[in-house]
Amino acid sequence: MIDHEGDSDRINIAIDGPAGAGKSTVARKVAEQLGYVYIDTGAMYRAVTLSAQRAGVTVEQLPKLAQLARSLIIELEPSEQGQSIFINGENVTSLIRSREVTLQVSHFAANETVREVLGTMQRNLAERKGVVMDGRDIGSHVLPNAELKIFLTASVQERALRRFREIADSQAITLEQLEKEIADRDYLDEQRDISPLICASDAVVLDSTSMTIDEVIEAIVKLSRTKLAEAK
Ligand code: CDP
Repeated sequence: MIDHEGDSDRINIAIDGPAGAGKSTVARKVAEQLGYVYIDTGAMYRAVTLSAQRAGVTVEQLPKLAQLARSLIIELEPSEQGQSIFINGENVTSLIRSREVTLQVSHFAANETVREVLGTMQRNLAERKGVVMDGRDIGSHVLPNAELKIFLTASVQERALRRFREIADSQAITLEQLEKEIADRDYLDEQRDISPLICASDAVVLDSTSMTIDEVIEAIVKLSRTKLAEAK
């Protein structure tokens, strides 16, 4: 049997979990250690949200939102911070992290066409294997055949605290407010009808509440080496 070049040397890794569990840092570092490509799917949902806000398109305007989602050229590029994201050639890496986008993204992410368009892009990116993809529905829906699935979680208090430390300098928000916003977003992501945030039945659950980032990375790299050996 002819193998696609290199396919048997690489696996796909899906890392799902709620906001602030450390997915993006962990996914980026795991990809770095394995020489894989890191794909931040949340950034893609944020990019659609930013574009809709700019165009004055609301979540209720279904045909307009569908048209917008289908028209966007979203590109990802590896960068020092992990990944840069471009919409129709414009670098929007910082803009998609605004509070305005964060407060709205879960509403736009519940839209069927938006999920269909981005899900297709994500599957195409993972076709050649060797990706570490983080999100909410990667192991359960986008890449159900990923060789390694991680569900990374932590208590909501710990997740809010981590996010608070990240953004406290630039954006005025209290820890209590942040905790509530994260809990609200978890609720929306878990309750939506289409591919909600869910722990896939074959995922390894890692609760990072009292683990350091390095411990989480080490655990995932170790699991990936085992899976890689099994896949050969
Ligand atoms: O980094 P943070 O945990 O704040 O969130 P993110 O990964 O940037 O994702 C932002 C939002 O996009 C999530 O709260 C979800 O509503 C949505 N999302 C999704 O629905 N499916 C994914 N695969 C990734 C993100």
